Amino acid sequence: MDKKVILTGDRPTGKLHLGHYVGSLKTRLSLQESGDYQIYVFIADLQALTDNARNPEKIRKSLIEVALDYLGVGLDPKKTTIFVQSQIPELTELTVHYLNLVTLARLKRNPTIKTEIKERGFNDAVPVGFLTYPISQAADITAFKADLVPVGEDQLPLIEQCREIVHTFNQIYGDILKEPQAMIPDNKACMRLPGIDGKAKMSKSLGNCIYLSDDSETVRKKVMSMYTDPAHIRVEDPGNVKDNTVFTYLDAFVGEEDFEKYLPEYKNLDELKKHYERGGLGDVKVKKFLYQVIEGILQPIRERRKYYEEHLDIVYKMLEEGSKKARVEAQDTLNKVRDAIGLNYFQKKDE
Ligand code: TRP
Repeated sequence: MDKKVILTGDRPTGKLHLGHYVGSLKTRLSLQESGDYQIYVFIADLQALTDNARNPEKIRKSLIEVALDYLGVGLDPKKTTIFVQSQIPELTELTVHYLNLVTLARLKRNPTIKTEIKERGFNDAVPVGFLTYPISQAADITAFKADLVPVGEDQLPLIEQCREIVHTFNQIYGDILKEPQAMIPDNKACMRLPGIDGKAKMSKSLGNCIYLSDDSETVRKKVMSMYTDPAHIRVEDPGNVKDNTVFTYLDAFVGEEDFEKYLPEYKNLDELKKHYERGGLGDVKVKKFLYQVIEGILQPIRERRKYYEEHLDIVYKMLEEGSKKARVEAQDTLNKVRDAIGLNYFQKKDE
């Protein structure tokens, strides 16, 4: 049987951070290593331009940073097709066909879009390309006949929108498009990693990120400055592990082997938490432990990333080849879509 197809992408608006790592990159890696799937990972530069049209240089720069982050974490172009959205013109034509199947009212109701419009302060001045990016995202997903789309929970309304487009299209034109399913991380702490300031989300615009490419001194400083329990003032004070960013991060990152390696006086996270809650465990000690855990993850990423930073030609070549390969699949889907709509006027009957 054919392998199931997995597709996911990132907007290139900056370097990737730990939120991306626990929320999506880690899952992609284990899916890649399972060998059970055909996987596409792409850099959504066109989508990034929908709210950055006047700042194309930022997107251009971020594209290579994201590619470096991919290779750094261990995405392997031999196992995963890595490509660039703008290099697949078929996606744009698919978008045009799908635009006719969605109402303006439906787009404006999309909770993800609503939030993003608010965040960006667009009000009524929202670029049409931005408002309609869920439709272009449906083109991304369907072009590659994706079964599964690993995304953060904030993306669920976009997958739902895509499924609606698939239904509508298939109802009108016949059973052509495949209906995708979202794939959400199961560890709660991974669903939305807070920033180091304790704010709801790690995000570039909030300036509260630990980047995959941060050097170890920067990581140390960021971890030591992390938000904890404001009422936990002296070491003896009982502390709260809920809404305590350091513990949320430990939930997301720590493995049992980390205790053996760095903090053998505790068996596991439960024991550490209990001690903190009882009192007598200082923030500095917990933060130092967290720093070691995070460094254990980031060090190998940083080294691989550095190698590719020094060999950018390999990275661009990898993206070019990935895009070429991906394009073949998108062309196949577009041909089927055109046929289904009847836009094949000059095709010979016996072809
Ligand atoms: N919207 C996604 C994000 O902001 C990026 C994206 C674009 C995407 N096209 C996609 C994700 C298709 C999954 C599938 O992160």
